[in-house]
Amino acid sequence: MKRIGLITSGGDAPGMNAAIRAIVRSACNLGLEVTGGYRGYQGLLENEFKVMDRHSVSNIIQRGGTILKTARSEEFMHPEGRARAAENLRQQGIEGLVVIGGDGSFRGATLLSEEQDIPVVGVPATIDNDLAGTDITIGYDTALNTALDAIDKIRDTADAHDRLFLVEVMGRDAGFIALDTGLASGAEMILLPESLTDVEDVRSSLSSILKEQKRSSLVVVAEGDETGGALTLASKLREGEGMSKYEMRVCILGHIQRGGNPTARDRVLASRLGFAAVKTLLDGHDRVMVGEVNHSVKLTPLKMTWSKKKDIDFELAELAKVLR
Ligand code: F6P
Repeated sequence: MKRIGLITSGGDAPGMNAAIRAIVRSACNLGLEVTGGYRGYQGLLENEFKVMDRHSVSNIIQRGGTILKTARSEEFMHPEGRARAAENLRQQGIEGLVVIGGDGSFRGATLLSEEQDIPVVGVPATIDNDLAGTDITIGYDTALNTALDAIDKIRDTADAHDRLFLVEVMGRDAGFIALDTGLASGAEMILLPESLTDVEDVRSSLSSILKEQKRSSLVVVAEGDETGGALTLASKLREGEGMSKYEMRVCILGHIQRGGNPTARDRVLASRLGFAAVKTLLDGHDRVMVGEVNHSVKLTPLKMTWSKKKDIDFELAELAKVLR
């Protein structure tokens, strides 16, 4: 193998740049050439490539976003699109591709490799932490701390005004960010997509919390929770009885969770997995993801990373209830 390709795909995650840096520099050190594709799979379709060397990745380890840009490509979802992307990759002399991204990106990478016989290795990067085969994904730790910082600030206002805040965090259909920020912020309730949420139960729990003389209350709501998110939950709660004693506010944290400088944890993880991805391609592996499990690098079949549901830790959810 002489030349590898590299893209970032799907939602950006802090630490993607650190992974790009690690991949480019590891490849250079191992005698490989590297070509980056812009805007994920869309750049492969539109022939937007750039030859990279170790200087192309200077001064980016600390930056959020991705210097290669990212996108979700509709065209790549079709076999014809993938065939065209593969043709463009071959024209660039790219013999193996590293995809930095999340579940949707890995589905695409799996199909590209199956249909077009292009070796692919995945590097897990998504704030959602919803990929099996790695204890945490690149970007998760930063997003968690960004959300926690915001929730701590909201707690100040909740406390100052004796208010109830419903705070919605991202995660798509996974509750990792909600569970960890909820526990770490001392939230009175945490609503997760992985467990059933009944609005009447929420109402009666909030009423009993009020009786405990708690002055402020925080409910962390995962965006994928079955109530439909914090805004919908707030209007359902307002419709019924028993909430009049609460002055309720909703705060949706949104995309601030995706940006910002990566934490040390994310930079170290990205550096480690970036290096491992290049070695893995060179060693002749295909359709695998490099992950970190119990502090060691582990390879997992790419298909398994998105088809197998990664479990949240229900013991932590129970602990949050005990400690609230
Ligand atoms: O997958 C990352 C993520 O931020 C999810 O948590 C969220 O549901 C989604 O992407 C938002 O996507 P977009 O930025 O396309 O609105």
